[in-house]
Amino acid sequence: MDKLVIRGGKPLKGEVRISGAKNAALPIMASTILAHGEHTIERVPHLRDVMTMGRLLANLGAGFHFEDNKTILDCSKINNFEAPYDLVKTMRASVLVLCPLVARFGRAKVSLPGGCAIGARPINLHLMGLEKMGAKIQLESGYVIAKANRLKGASIYLDTITVTGTENLIMAAVLAKGTTILENAAREPEVVDLANCLIAMGAKISGAGDSVIEIEGVDELKPINNYRIIPDRIETGTFMATAGITGGDLVLKDCKPEHLDAVIMKLKDAGVVFKETKKGLRVIGPERLTARDAKTIPYPGFPTDMQAQFMAMMTVANGTSVIKETVFENRFMHVAELKRMGADISIEGGTATIKGVEKLKGAPVMATDLRASASLVVAALCAEGETVIHRIYHLDRGYEKMDEKLRHVGADIERITS
Ligand code: EPU
Repeated sequence: MDKLVIRGGKPLKGEVRISGAKNAALPIMASTILAHGEHTIERVPHLRDVMTMGRLLANLGAGFHFEDNKTILDCSKINNFEAPYDLVKTMRASVLVLCPLVARFGRAKVSLPGGCAIGARPINLHLMGLEKMGAKIQLESGYVIAKANRLKGASIYLDTITVTGTENLIMAAVLAKGTTILENAAREPEVVDLANCLIAMGAKISGAGDSVIEIEGVDELKPINNYRIIPDRIETGTFMATAGITGGDLVLKDCKPEHLDAVIMKLKDAGVVFKETKKGLRVIGPERLTARDAKTIPYPGFPTDMQAQFMAMMTVANGTSVIKETVFENRFMHVAELKRMGADISIEGGTATIKGVEKLKGAPVMATDLRASASLVVAALCAEGETVIHRIYHLDRGYEKMDEKLRHVGADIERITS
C-alpha cells in the first residue's frame, strides 16, 4: 500500500490547476445509461472512483474508454442490469446506476451499499422516490431488486437533503411518463451539473440548484457530446486550506469560486486573503490563522466535505474553535490522527472543540476516509518534521495527482510505493 512522506513547514507558492469534480463525474457517467449510443465527457478526473464507475458500466455491457481526462462511454449494448457487491462495496456511488437502469430498461439489481467509515448512509429515500414513481422494489440477500414498466411522474418530498438521492431520482424522472416534482432536493453544484448534462441530452428539467426541481419526462434521450465536467470545489477548497495553513501564496486555475462562497467567507474570517486575478483565484495565507467556528450544512452551507480540512487549519489557529458536523454522524475519524500530531481537540457528539496550538509535529498517521486523508495532508504540510501518511489509497479515490500538484508548488512530499 502506498504511503506519503511529508516534511512540513514550507509555504506553498505557485499555480495549481483544479481538476474536474469527482462528485459530478460519477452521476454524469451513470446518466449515460439513459441513452443508446456513444457519449463523450471531458475534464473527467483520473481517479480510482471514476475507474470503478467505468468498470461498473463496462460490467453492464457498456464500452468504456478513458484517455487524457476524456471518457467515451458506449451504452448501445447494455445487457446486464446488476451492480454486484464487489464493486458497490468499494464505492457507494455505484448506487447511482439504480435509477437510470430502471428508467431505461425497467429493471435493476443493485447491491445495498452498507455503512461506511463516516456513517450509516442508508438509501431509503432513493428507494422511496423510485417506488412512488411506480417501481416494485424488493430487498433480497443484500440486494435491491427494482422493476417497472415505464416509470411515472410523482410528487416526492425528501425528508433529508440527499445529494445522490436527488441525482438518482432526477435520472428516474427524465424518462418517466408525466411530471415529477422533487421537494427539499439537494442544491449542490454537482446536482446542477448533472441536470445541465441531461438537458443537453434532451431532458426537460427546471429548478436544479433550487430546493424544488420539476422534471417533465420525455420518451427518449440522445447521447451527450463533449460535455465538460465542472471543476472540483472540494479539491479547490483543500488547496485553499494548504495555502492558508502554510502561509502560502497559490493561484488556483480553472476553479469556480462561486461554488465555494461559504468556504471562502469562513477562510477570509480566519485571515486568508483572496484575490481574483486573470490567471485564477489567488489565495494568500496569513502568518497565523485566527480560530473560527463552523457548522456543516448542505449546499450552499459549509460543506461536510471540507470539515476535516478546515479542522486541520484550526489546530494551529490562534484561539479556540468549535466545529459542528450535522450531515454525517461519524465524520471525526481524522481527530485521533490529528491528535497524534499534537492537536488539542475534544469531541462531544457531533461537536469538536479545537484549541489552537503553536505547532503540530510530524508523526506516523493513518488515512481513514477520503476527506480525513486530505486533512492529514493539510496538517502535515505545516507540521514540524516528518509525517508519514499510511493507506493513502483513500486519497487516490478523490484527488487527482495531489502529491504531484503539491510538489509542483514547493511541498516536500514523496510517495512511497510498496
Ligand atoms: N440519507 C438518508 N437516506 C437516504 C440518503 C441519505 O438518511 O436515502 C442521509 C445520510 O445518511 C446523510 C445525509 O442524508 O446523513 C446526507 O447524505 P447524502 O445522501 O447527501 O450523501 P451522498 O449522496 O451519499 C454525497 C457525496 C459525499 C458528500 C455528501 C454530502 C457523492 C458521490 N458523494 O454523498 O461525498 O459528503 O453527498 O455532501 O456525491 C466525498 O466526496 O468524500 C463524499 C463523501
